[in-house]
Amino acid sequence: MNYNITVLDGDGIGPEICAGAIKVLNATGAKYGHTFNFTHKLIGGCAIDKCGVPLPEETVTACLSCDSVLLGAVGGYKWDSLPVDIRPEKGLLGIRKAMGLYSNIRPAKLWASLAHASPLKYELVKDGVEIIIVRELTGGIYFGERGKGTGDGGEYAWDTEKYSVAEIERITRIACELASKRDKKVVSIDKANVLESSRLWRRTVHAYAEKNYPDITVEDMLVDNAAMQIVKNPSALGVVLTSNIFGDILSDEAAQVTGSIGMLASSSLGDGTRGLYEPIHGSAPDIAGKDIANPIATVLAAAMMLRDSFSLTDECAAIERAVESVLNDGWRTADIMEEGAKRVTGSRMAELIAERI
Ligand code: IPM
Ligand code: MN
Repeated sequence: MNYNITVLDGDGIGPEICAGAIKVLNATGAKYGHTFNFTHKLIGGCAIDKCGVPLPEETVTACLSCDSVLLGAVGGYKWDSLPVDIRPEKGLLGIRKAMGLYSNIRPAKLWASLAHASPLKYELVKDGVEIIIVRELTGGIYFGERGKGTGDGGEYAWDTEKYSVAEIERITRIACELASKRDKKVVSIDKANVLESSRLWRRTVHAYAEKNYPDITVEDMLVDNAAMQIVKNPSALGVVLTSNIFGDILSDEAAQVTGSIGMLASSSLGDGTRGLYEPIHGSAPDIAGKDIANPIATVLAAAMMLRDSFSLTDECAAIERAVESVLNDGWRTADIMEEGAKRVTGSRMAELIAERI
């Protein structure tokens, strides 16, 4: 089969880590008889530099007509002082919205060979951790009405958290589907003791799950408590369903628990099979161009694309196995280096994985 993939390299380490993922995808294609065609488009800071906007029309068109999208990372110091509308982040939010990607899945998995890298005590993580955060991605405070003005207290500014039943139901379905293949439990996170939008969230999640997934148990957790449970008892969490802003915050926390943000991938999907796959980490401008960035998160994002957009489950598993085998043999990039391991560059890490497909 032939697959057309749009690659949004982005800024900082984006191009290097995408190159690593492409290497691994090509090796996978060669082994399993697929052709992956890659078309590179601009997003973020590099797009601002070349086109004056973080999300050029041409990029949107390419993303809406390909089979799936691989993204590196956007942003950097260089663009930090630009007005909000032409900041690199706006490109990312814009492409999520334009592609209708309301469902963001962020699995935070602790790799057995990297358990030492977790900042948590060994006994808390020794049985493994796999928190799968299902984050609503095109609604809530990220896209709600906002404004600013000046009043009695001086300048003021406001943002709004607003969710409709339809938006809550469609993301609940995604979480329930995932939980159906696991322990049949969804932990839904909100702030229903304070927020009206959270009360609707809670009511809707329960009603929808009870009606459509009677064998799934929904457990509610307040977001402040969730922040605590992630570091107190991470293996108790599993599939976590939450809003855009809470998911943003908790996914960084969950990622850190695994000790290696350089290893975690995420998928963003809408109603169809075309998605956007990216590492959870950012553009790390401080190490860009030095060939030290860990490409594994992007490689695993590419693997998720094969499974979740193209239904290539064996191919996805082959990439995950290759990553595991390289780690088990002691190869490490700088970010996950430990005593006695063998340090390699980012590009060499990608080659090692590609060779083992
Ligand atoms: C993320 C990032 C983005 C977000 C930023 C860059 C807009 O933090 O993907 O988690 O907040 O969604
Ligand atoms: Mn974030």
